Amino acid sequence: MTATLVPSQQILTPQLEIAGGRRLAGELRVSGAKNSALVLMAASLLTTEQLRLRNVPPLTDIGGMADILISLGVATSHNGDTLEMDGSGLSQSSPPYELVNSLRASFFCIGPLLARLGIARVPLPGGCQIGTRPVVEHVKGLKALGAQVTIEHGVVSAVVPGRSHRLRGGRIHLDCPSVGATETLMMAAALAEGETVIENAALEPEVVDLAGLLLAMGAKVRGAGTPTITIVGVERLHGADYAVIPDRIEAGTFLLAAAITRSCLTVAPVVTDHLGAVLTKLEEVGCRLEIDGTNVTISADTIQAVDLRTQPFPGFPTDLQAPFMSLLATANGNSVVTENIFENRLQHVAELQRMGAAIRTQGNTAFIEGVPRLSGAPVQGSDLRASAAMVLAGLAADGITTVQGLEYLDRGYADFEGKLNAVGASIRRLG
Ligand code: EPZ
Repeated sequence: MTATLVPSQQILTPQLEIAGGRRLAGELRVSGAKNSALVLMAASLLTTEQLRLRNVPPLTDIGGMADILISLGVATSHNGDTLEMDGSGLSQSSPPYELVNSLRASFFCIGPLLARLGIARVPLPGGCQIGTRPVVEHVKGLKALGAQVTIEHGVVSAVVPGRSHRLRGGRIHLDCPSVGATETLMMAAALAEGETVIENAALEPEVVDLAGLLLAMGAKVRGAGTPTITIVGVERLHGADYAVIPDRIEAGTFLLAAAITRSCLTVAPVVTDHLGAVLTKLEEVGCRLEIDGTNVTISADTIQAVDLRTQPFPGFPTDLQAPFMSLLATANGNSVVTENIFENRLQHVAELQRMGAAIRTQGNTAFIEGVPRLSGAPVQGSDLRASAAMVLAGLAADGITTVQGLEYLDRGYADFEGKLNAVGASIRRLG
């Protein structure tokens, strides 16, 4: 982390300085989806041919995944928002710990490595600020496809016995509709011998986007977006040229930036089917939405309190729980927010309280009594979405807010302050 010397010789931690209370106006462009691009990049390990991905967001997590692929022998090149990957030189079955340690999504590599090489050794991703995040379902599924899997010294080692070292199709019932487990097993099954059925699969748009890429690479996948996904394995997959879907979480965050500043903004491109539960909640709190294709224009005057519970797709996304709570902190009335997906995802509450929000928590539930105004304060984002929630609160607050935790924010939002400043915000990046 670089530091900047300021006149008083103090070391300044990178932070955003936000002058609040300004209305926003204009159009905010949405980048490609982080949570889709990361898994689509891992799919490049499944083929010896070139994979070209378009609409790839310029994020630190994407850079981290590219480093991991390069360490395995994949050649990558970047041109604007287009990323080209060539897996013909794949030579390693184990990404280095220091690269994996900082990027949970690196665990996506275990499925395609095992499918392509018959062997994979990937460090356990471990927990993060929002929860323990086990990979039990991933491992269970790989075993059902014929892999022998052991976990020792923090590393998951998997090998496919037999002369062909080829996975074989099987039936897998997930105990919970895990996004990561569904995606890992789809990639593993794509090159397996025979048919695989994944039951209680995740329904998220990113899962459907992965199926779209696999089909473009010559895989046989059906049922993505439903609880039952069927994959008939093929001998080999070819290259493809594919565009990543827009980021529904970034789009939701921008719609909330308009609502919390009581502004009128257009956000695009938005695939409204990917944000159904969020658009419904925005209308419930009193926002007006005009939808014209992939353009969503939102305007808001007053905000009413509502209750919300996070759920797997198509329910309300956990990744927008914190940003939505910033809005509810300024609503008329009392709201109840229940976080059902991650066991430790209410850390932003203490920071919102620092800004004058009236929130108390009990277990995974927050009880919010809306206040007319938040006041600017120095706050800390504890994870990616909590950092975004702090920025939204700063946009609405009286006075100056400084937000630390940019190492999290930059993982998931491309040029966040640049985009918001372009529609009238006043945000400076310091340090
Ligand atoms: C993906 O994480 C996203 N990350 C997360 O986004 C998102 O919050 C999450 O899905 C839910 O939508 C990426 O796609 C890179 P899960 P993932 O496996 O795949 C439990 C962001 O802010 N579980 O669906 O790790 C788990 O503990 C990030 O962009 C098990 O119990 O999520 C959690 O409580 C944060 N056993 C729940 O399921 C398992 O084996 C959902 O996890 C696997 C998961």
